[in-house]
Amino acid sequence: MSKVDLTPWQVDDAQFCWHPFTQAHTAKPPVVMVRGEAEFLWDEHGKRYFDAVSSWWVNIHGHCNPTIAQAVAEQARQLEHVMFAGIAHPPAIELAKALIDCAPAPMAKVFYSDNGSTAIEVALKMVFQYWQNLDGPHSPRKRLIALQGGYHGDTFGAMAAGQSSGFYDPFKPWLFNVDFIECGTCACTEDAALAQLDALLAEQGEHMAAMILEPLIQGAAGMRMMRPAFVAELCKRCHAAGVLVIFDEVFTGFGRTGTLFAADAVAEQGGHADIICLSKGLTGGFMPMAATLASQAIYDAFLSPEVNKALLHGHSYTANPLGCAAALASLRLLRSEPVQGRLRDIQAVHADWLPRLATHPQIQNPRVCGTVAAFEIQSAQNGYGSSVSQRLRETFMERGIVVRPLGNTLYWIPPYCTSPSTLKGAYNTLMDVLDDWAAPPQKNAPTRPPGTGSELF
Ligand SMILES: Cc1ncc(COP(=O)(O)O)c(C=O)c1O
Repeated sequence: MSKVDLTPWQVDDAQFCWHPFTQAHTAKPPVVMVRGEAEFLWDEHGKRYFDAVSSWWVNIHGHCNPTIAQAVAEQARQLEHVMFAGIAHPPAIELAKALIDCAPAPMAKVFYSDNGSTAIEVALKMVFQYWQNLDGPHSPRKRLIALQGGYHGDTFGAMAAGQSSGFYDPFKPWLFNVDFIECGTCACTEDAALAQLDALLAEQGEHMAAMILEPLIQGAAGMRMMRPAFVAELCKRCHAAGVLVIFDEVFTGFGRTGTLFAADAVAEQGGHADIICLSKGLTGGFMPMAATLASQAIYDAFLSPEVNKALLHGHSYTANPLGCAAALASLRLLRSEPVQGRLRDIQAVHADWLPRLATHPQIQNPRVCGTVAAFEIQSAQNGYGSSVSQRLRETFMERGIVVRPLGNTLYWIPPYCTSPSTLKGAYNTLMDVLDDWAAPPQKNAPTRPPGTGSELF
């Protein structure tokens, strides 16, 4: 698109906005979305798109859900914001109670923050200070264990925990050391991961403060899926060595993996976390907000006559009442029968298509967990900035579907209100796109310039 073809919104966007995970020098102008309803978005020209990735996995009830919109509007007229230090308010109290009621044991307390990364920072500060509060400043438990490839956000602690994801090379000198073990996505890597954990705990167990992991699905790593029994085994081994466990459920929380929390499926296998980080779906995609849930034992370690033993952490918008109101409305919707039925419908469509994907020559390793379906598009190239990812994005956008491939991994993570026909339509479009790509190029057909890999994640 030449400069003259830009719309006024795109001109101002180019002049004033700096987009996330984007190399602006080579990126094409962004599509400007002006309206959302249910699973759809509309751009400034009136073209409709299916939001097949729930807007970076946050939107669970569809865009502009009227129930959540009304709850936010009512709260905005009552109390829009008040600081949460020395002051409380009903939406934050009600939401904390509701989260603890539905979270698996042993969650007992809720610490609010603003986004997935801050939920992780809070969790890391909790575990590091927990050991210092118990053992004193010279506590040997200062190290963190994490899974290879895990992604936990873009603040410094979160980057350190996720440094093997490959996103953070410019910042490596400032990231603290973390001990990584493999992520067990199949029987052989499960065994290797457990053997590595055993060796680490045997050698260094008393230096380990905690282990952090994304239970059941490593999202940004390429929707890498793990069995609940494997995650439970990691938890049991950590706990046996006195090491705390943090579940990063920023992506997996609120029904994504088929149960309310991925931790519910892990609990069925006898494993649990001491801390659970939530964000994304927490407010149904309406407001930036996060919650770090902790056990009573962790909370108790911060109680002392000394102020320095408190968790001296907070954000201006901690427990924002509008976010809490959105989250309460979203949680009520999520637990209602109609939404549970929609979740089952999405899972049924994924299950129907799985065998077809499994035998498709251009698709590898199709997999499903709850409402998440992912597969690799066969390509000579992969990696996050690969041109296949760019080409997939552009092709699907042209056909009215918003996707955000991770390298050559394409995935559907639809809002739960998505109708079976919309989702089936996305699968049919996938088949059409792959047929087009497989067809030999026609003589004199215009050739598409290769994508530039200007956007990541
Ligand atoms: C598992 C996980 N943790 C943490 C984060 C960071 O969340 P945020 O982008 O809200 O900071 C993400 C974001 O994608 C995530 O997938």
